[in-house]
Amino acid sequence: MADKPWGGRFREETLKIVEAFTASLGFDRRMYRQDIRGSQAHARMLAKVGVLTEDEARTLVQGLDEVRSEIEAGTFAFRDADEDIHMAVEKRLTERVGAVGGKLHTGRSRNDQVALDLRLYLADEIPEVLDLLRGLGEVLLTRAEAETDVLLPGYTHLQRAQPVTFGHHWLAYFEMFLRDAERLVDTLRRTRRSPLGAGALAGSPYPLDREAVARDLGFEGVCRNSLDAVSDRDFALEFLFDASVVMTHLSRLSEELVIWSSQEFRFIELSDGFCTGSSIMPQKKNPDVPELLRGKVGRVNGNLLGLLTTLKSLPLAYNKDMQEDKEPVFDSLDTVKRSLAITVEMVRTLRLRPDRAREALTAGYLTATDLADYLARKGLPFREAHEAAGRAVALAEERGSGLEELPLDALRALSPLVDADVYAVLSVEASLASRRVLGGPAPENVRREAALGRDRLDALWPRRG
Ligand code: ARG
Repeated sequence: MADKPWGGRFREETLKIVEAFTASLGFDRRMYRQDIRGSQAHARMLAKVGVLTEDEARTLVQGLDEVRSEIEAGTFAFRDADEDIHMAVEKRLTERVGAVGGKLHTGRSRNDQVALDLRLYLADEIPEVLDLLRGLGEVLLTRAEAETDVLLPGYTHLQRAQPVTFGHHWLAYFEMFLRDAERLVDTLRRTRRSPLGAGALAGSPYPLDREAVARDLGFEGVCRNSLDAVSDRDFALEFLFDASVVMTHLSRLSEELVIWSSQEFRFIELSDGFCTGSSIMPQKKNPDVPELLRGKVGRVNGNLLGLLTTLKSLPLAYNKDMQEDKEPVFDSLDTVKRSLAITVEMVRTLRLRPDRAREALTAGYLTATDLADYLARKGLPFREAHEAAGRAVALAEERGSGLEELPLDALRALSPLVDADVYAVLSVEASLASRRVLGGPAPENVRREAALGRDRLDALWPRRG
């Protein structure tokens, strides 16, 4: 068993099927950059505290640079027998630099190493997700500014309820994605803590400077208990949850785009590049992209539930079960990044059909609440006003007319408080303009909130590079 770094106490070879079953190299090789960066920080620190000589550390750091170049050039041979990225890199390092390569692992275990690598990996990737969320936020704000006055029926229970605008609707999604970004910024804080120095589980007898390693890696601090340091995967769970919420928001947006682009609604048209046809029905233009975005929530939620279940009841400290943490994280990460990138383009390029949305506002008595509020402002208790406005709706329905088409005497018969000025509140435009309360859909509000949205985005996650 001379070929295994842990082979000393073994007499028989590992079975091939066991090697294949326990190996993580097939998926954890994605973390090779982080693994090398972590090892280099560890080597530098070992020299600083006198465990290695400066010369030895320099050899290790340089050798690791060369291993990285080999991986990037595609000349590195990945073999299941090397188990994982940590052992594969170390083995190749030793082949290149000789026996000193064997000193790299002094004061370290794969248990603290792997925890660090996944943290470094997410610390590199979460900012990419944040950039994408920022891009989506900007597209939504741009649309909101341009479509401040474009009327849209607002719905509850998917029944026409009160008039809003496309601008206001886009801002609702802006709020969701801004919260998603807030959550990720917060997750990033807890991700950027270094477990290195926790060893296998019980720390180390070497005078390691854990804080120096954390600083070297750009982390905010260290995990303060060695048992927790090697067994904590909360940062991965948090990321998976954050990704689930992003995908949930994307699925709600997608569902609306599917509905709005249907023949029944036709409020919007998705650009041709985002749709596909049918192999049998020549007239079809299917909204595949939003449908698929909606469908992908399944796998992302599965990833979250999968890792929660893996971690449930695990005793301290490291257990091999935890190797199952990486694939769900990678899958959710890939899914959320691709989904955000495509949504940015889809939202940017979709076209509105303002005529269709306006038409939908003429039927459905969307200003009935405004009539009730009109009566309430004239002194009628709101409950009674609601009742009177309800009777106005019944009357309009009977006559097959809109509320604003009811004659004054018919309205006055419902309540003597009605005057000719009632028609000013019955129009959709007046209803909208009157909703100036903070967070309301009045066009002046939406303009102000869209401008403020840019500042909020900058304060949370400034544009990089
Ligand atoms: N490949 C392992 C993982 O992903 C690395 C840690 C292995 N540690 C151990 N004691 N076997 O979790």
